[in-house]
Amino acid sequence: MKWEIVENYQALSAFAGRLLLDAIRQHPAIILGLPTGRTPEGMYEYIVEECGREYRCFNAARTFNLDEYVGIPPSHPGSYYTYMRHHLFDHVDIRESNIHIPDGSAPDLELECRRYEMELAQAGGLDLTVLGLGRNGHIGFNEPGTPFDSRTRVVGLTESTRRANAPEFQAGHVPTRAITIGIETILDSKRIVLFASGREKAAIVRRFATEEPSEMLPASALRGHPDVTVVVDQKAAELIEELPGVGRP
Ligand code: GLP
Repeated sequence: MKWEIVENYQALSAFAGRLLLDAIRQHPAIILGLPTGRTPEGMYEYIVEECGREYRCFNAARTFNLDEYVGIPPSHPGSYYTYMRHHLFDHVDIRESNIHIPDGSAPDLELECRRYEMELAQAGGLDLTVLGLGRNGHIGFNEPGTPFDSRTRVVGLTESTRRANAPEFQAGHVPTRAITIGIETILDSKRIVLFASGREKAAIVRRFATEEPSEMLPASALRGHPDVTVVVDQKAAELIEELPGVGRP
């Protein structure tokens, strides 16, 4: 596991954005696993700006989002579909048919999970997956207690996750369930980048850096993966400065 500590959110966003664009340049038909949430907003902004200037980057790329809320249609302002259109897809040259996001409003959710997992397998699996880090250590919507051999499925959201994501919804209407790709689905990705920003992530970043892998800390499953880069800014890293081998900018 490789650690990168960068100065601030802007540097974090540029680092992750560059890494993703470099990967696309090396392999234009790449299969990307993409996150939502506040952390990736700056990364998407960086990518959109670079793509607009440089070259037709997403022309051959295929994307699979990590997760989506259950019970809201893609057109809902709080859906991850809307988020991705707003932050990335509406501004780059990705082909509509190459965008994949679980449909949380599908009539048969179990079937939708199987369909998504199959579509991903048929595409050849994830080449590069970018992950945010939930305050309780979740990745995608794999909450504490998730078995490391989990695949795409419907999950219940913890109160703390619902509280963190409440600003996207009207009071009392925060979804209680989501579809998420599983931990094993993530671990099948050839390469993984996990990133975290800000003091509110410092405690969980410390746990992630120091605790033994356990299902109570979903992100700790990444320890068993051969190609993981962890990128954190100084505020998120402020509780891990004593770790050996972790350099500072
Ligand atoms: C959300 C998403 C995750 C995300 C995480 C952190 O609930 N489902 O994919 O990485 O929580 O979000 P944020 O970046 O807003 O802190």
